[in-house]
This record gives sequence, C-alpha cells and structure tokens, in this order.
Amino acid sequence: MQTSANMEPITRALQTLTSGQPVSDGDGVKMTRIIGTPELNMLDPFLLLDTFESDQAQDYIGGFPDHPHRGFEAVTYLLAGCMRHKDSAGHAGVIEAGGVQWMTAGRGIIHSEMPEQTDGLLQGFQLWINLPASKKMQAPAYQEFPANIIAVEQLENGTEIRVIAGSTNNGTTGPVINHHTNPVYMDVSLPKGQRFEQAVDTDDNVFIFVITGELSVGDSMRNIGRHQMGVFGEGDQVVVTANEAARFLFVAARPLNEPVARGGPFVMNTKAEVLQAFEDFKQNQFIKRTGN
Ligand code: CO
Repeated sequence: MQTSANMEPITRALQTLTSGQPVSDGDGVKMTRIIGTPELNMLDPFLLLDTFESDQAQDYIGGFPDHPHRGFEAVTYLLAGCMRHKDSAGHAGVIEAGGVQWMTAGRGIIHSEMPEQTDGLLQGFQLWINLPASKKMQAPAYQEFPANIIAVEQLENGTEIRVIAGSTNNGTTGPVINHHTNPVYMDVSLPKGQRFEQAVDTDDNVFIFVITGELSVGDSMRNIGRHQMGVFGEGDQVVVTANEAARFLFVAARPLNEPVARGGPFVMNTKAEVLQAFEDFKQNQFIKRTGN
C-alpha cells in the first residue's frame, strides 16, 4: 500500500455505473457484456467482462467451440454449473461451481469452453486482463483452481470473502499468481447492514459487480444495484455497505498504460501486430509443435 504513516486512507468515490448490454458469443451463448461495450470499451488492464446466468439450455448449450486468442489472459469464474476447457497447449479440465480457470493466451492458443451439462443453471463470469507488451508473446500458461483451493475468509459479522487473487485487509491471499498487473479478484457475500472495507493500491483501477442485493458506496447515498457494475475513482480504499444482503465481485488491477489494438480474439499494441496474429493463426502457428 502507498498510504503514508499517519495519513487517513482516502476512500474512493463511485465514478460510473453501468449495466452493460446483451450479447451473443461463441455458438449462440447469451450473455451480458459489462466491459468491452461502446459505453465502456475498457478499464485498463481489463479488456472485457461477460456475465452469463441462465437455466435455459438453449441460452448456453452451444458453448464456445475452438477459437484462438493472443496477447492477454482470460479468467473464467463459475458460480453455478460446469464447463469443460481444452486447449492447443495441452491443457484440459472441468471447472465446477466456485472454481476458477486462469488462462494466459500469450503468443497464441486455440481453446474450447463447453458446458458440461444439458440442463440446469449455468452462471459465471469471464474477464479478460491485458498482458504488457513484453509478455504478449510469452508461452501460453494455464492455472486452474477448484472451489476448495480458493482461500475463504469468514468474519464474525457473517461476511464471507472468497479470494481468487490478491489479499484482504486481514491477509487472506488467493492462489492466483500474476506479477504483470497484480490483480485482486474476490467474491464477497455481505449480510444486510454490514460494511466491507478493502485497501487498494492508489494506481489500481477498481470495480465492483453486484450479483445479488444492493450496496451503498462509502458515506455517500450512491448505490450499486443488482447486476450493475460500479467503477471507482481515486483513493486507497473502497468502503461499501450492504443495503440488503449482497453478493458481489470486487476486482482491481494495475493499469498497463500501453496502446491497445483489438481485433476480435487478439489484443495487441499495434494494428500491425493484430494483422500478424490473424496471419499466424491462418498459418497454423497457434498449434503446439513438438519440442515447443
Ligand atoms: Co476463449
């Protein structure tokens, strides 16, 4: 933390509020895009946030068949249901409710993400986190953590914090390692009337997405409602209170402050690099080769 001794932490104010827009991606999967829309193109280093929640099989059964990525990390967090992942670097696995898949596309990966269920609720998030220019062409990597590996902090007031990445004020630390943007990724359940305080680095971009319930921000009268994302202004801590029992994602990371060039599944620094990605994909450069 960068708070100097004897200085009161500055509580971040709510800066913007967004509800995203409905999109269909993969093979007809219905989702809501929160980051990566005309309204909120990106929140450096976050390039995209999708949320999906449906108990209607036709909304998700098509899944995301084989498709490529280059230049960033894709983080999938499931709240309900089951997804099977397979990629060209040889990684495969099934994520279940409470589990996380943290995929570093690096120089190139082709993967599929398919529902491992034909009915029932499928609910979760996919977040894209940018890589710095120096790491965009690194070897692909993959971290997967089932629910029982996620660090859980339970407080006497009934608060439960599931820590995927980063550390709570009490020092509970999540299993994900990322030195590029030092992300914080927490799933917080807050009983009605309780307060959640979290220190953040002054440089970080910070957002909260409310899954259920409603939060009020700091000492203001401003609220973040169900299925809304709040982006925070400057400061070194975030304080929210549950107006009603709430569950939300708390996410923060250090911005890269680098130029961003997007081309669908490829996110690079220049347009030429994006065109090169399309060319490399066409030339089958994303397929793992022996000894590579
Ligand atoms: Co993908």
